[in-house]
Amino acid sequence: MTTEQTVPTYAPPAANDVGALSWLVGSMDAYRAMHQRSIDDPEGFWSDVASEFHWFEKWDTVVEWDLPDAKWFVGGKTNLCYNAVDRHVADGYSEQIAIIWEGEPYPDSGPEVRRITYRELQNETAKCANALKAMGVKKGDVVTIYMGMVPELAVACLACARIGAVHSVIFGGFSSSAIVDRVKDAKSKVIVTCDGSWRRGKVVPLKENVDEACQSLDGTPDAVEKVIVVKRCENDVAINGRDVWWHDAVGGASDDCPCVPLDSEAMSFLLYTSGSTGKPKGIVHTTGGYMVHTSYTSKLTFNMIPDGQQIYWCTADIGWITGHSYILYGILPNRVTSVMYEGGPDFPDASRFWDIVERHRVTQFYTAPTAIRAFMKWGNEHPAKHDLTTLQVLGTVGEPINPEAWKWYRKHIGRGVCPIVDTWWQTETGGHMLTPLPGATPTKPGSCTLPFPGIDAAVVDEQGNEVPNGEQGLLAIRKPWPSMLRGIFGDRERFVDTYWKRLPGMYFPGDGAVRDDDGYFWITGRVDDVINVSGHRLGTAEVESALVAHPAVVEAAVVGMPHEIKGTGIAAFVTLGPGHEPGEGLKNELRAHVGNDIGAIAKPDLIKFAAGLPKTRSGKIMRRLLRDIAAGKTEISQDVTTLEDLSVVAKLASSDES
Ligand code: PRX
Repeated sequence: MTTEQTVPTYAPPAANDVGALSWLVGSMDAYRAMHQRSIDDPEGFWSDVASEFHWFEKWDTVVEWDLPDAKWFVGGKTNLCYNAVDRHVADGYSEQIAIIWEGEPYPDSGPEVRRITYRELQNETAKCANALKAMGVKKGDVVTIYMGMVPELAVACLACARIGAVHSVIFGGFSSSAIVDRVKDAKSKVIVTCDGSWRRGKVVPLKENVDEACQSLDGTPDAVEKVIVVKRCENDVAINGRDVWWHDAVGGASDDCPCVPLDSEAMSFLLYTSGSTGKPKGIVHTTGGYMVHTSYTSKLTFNMIPDGQQIYWCTADIGWITGHSYILYGILPNRVTSVMYEGGPDFPDASRFWDIVERHRVTQFYTAPTAIRAFMKWGNEHPAKHDLTTLQVLGTVGEPINPEAWKWYRKHIGRGVCPIVDTWWQTETGGHMLTPLPGATPTKPGSCTLPFPGIDAAVVDEQGNEVPNGEQGLLAIRKPWPSMLRGIFGDRERFVDTYWKRLPGMYFPGDGAVRDDDGYFWITGRVDDVINVSGHRLGTAEVESALVAHPAVVEAAVVGMPHEIKGTGIAAFVTLGPGHEPGEGLKNELRAHVGNDIGAIAKPDLIKFAAGLPKTRSGKIMRRLLRDIAAGKTEISQDVTTLEDLSVVAKLASSDES
């Protein structure tokens, strides 16, 4: 047990102390009773939760569990868009603001802000759904969405949900080859995009990337048929035969398009995420279970009360699971206002986020440790300039948070009083799994504390036996939960192998963990070849394959290394082919090459050229050794000016390295 795990706890404040009306779960006793009931009677527990939603037809069975296949609310018919939007209009809240959107550019007159009511969101969503239908999109078809953070992105997602189309959102920072891979895998025929998106004052050429992707698919069975383009940045774009402007296609469509009742188990979306091998995998999420779990976790974790006063802001991009679950699908059903911000945190200066919190009177704020570390570096004066007293609850997600950043967050953003919810979950889990509840759970900086009600989590050894408190083990989830992934699109074997083989009868998320004597969980990071860069997952194999695709490279090994802001940075060890000289120029070229192949987030932070990579006798790359070298823990005593002689250190390393 490290000293971090014996730190003093922070008791939850009284609701009044942070300006909240009340806490939905106000004590540890209340939490423990809920959790106990959810384990003793999961069907009764989840059935009560699900009853708070609109079902066109009620379910017959709460859960069918035939490992690894779960079905939730079987026989029930519902619709995510109906519950997120239409229900509130039907209940008389049509004029409440659903989304406050703020654009990145910041002229003297102030940034562009759009306040979209639930009625407007319903109308726009219906029009977009009709436009998609007019293009031939039917229930079950996959619509690819590659956009900046504009309101039309939310509309496009909800429009798919409205008619039972499946969306596959690709983060706007990914390259055209990432679009090609995902469009092919999902057999998607329609793409929704923007001319460009604003990022730190520059235009990211989204449409150009889509054009490149479409051109490489033309003439193949995977050719894209239609592209809808939102005009946002007014940058020059080519409008080809398959392209249609959003304002024409959606602007001219009827706003009459009722939500389609869908089977609870109908696929709602695919979201691609990296694994330890091969290409990113399409994680399959469904309708009823996903809705119930993400909305209920939103409600309790962020203490959501639909009094028309709460303004919730999650800074993620909708291109990641955090944006799907905690900007849209979990938040809107709670009938609070969700803030969407288009651009960078330091545009036009490092106080932009706090300016947004102040102007929109944000009550709940959800961000990532990497952002918090950047705020720390930029200086306390930025938040100090702004009135942050509306904040009630602060959240963090994406990677383990270092206690120093946690404490800074509480002090400088949370006035030393707001509870911090450190939420552990994954693309695959759909919603929160381990998290404090703000009015109930005493928190410890760096721990995601305890399982959410309904979640049976443990730290186990390779045989699936629980390890004693204080000992490192593997995180495991022992019972199904409503928003769990239902598969990897088109790859049953990979689904079974990745999540269900390593631990007997349990879900294996790929993370290591320790429990302390209070039963609190401390996530120690990934135990597979996935690295978590700024809270974004990348497979080392993906980056390696991008590197070896460069003509100068014959072999590459990629590992994570500690990074002050990103948490984990990317270190690449590269062996060059004959005739290629190591040097700064080539390093820059390789970085750019990886950026083009995957996206800017995959560019290595450190490149080391090596005459050969250190390997075990059986030929496996000694990754642990490379991690030590990247972290500066292992000295290389040879001449290291250009070419590292890693065989020297390899000889020093133990032969059982894997
Ligand atoms: O390693 C864990 C880390 O992020 C991984 C999931 O990544 P992704 O699917 O991209 O989803 C990120 C947003 C949910 C996990 O396997 N992770 C996520 N949240 C935390 C975390 N590690 C520690 N503490 C967290 N709160």
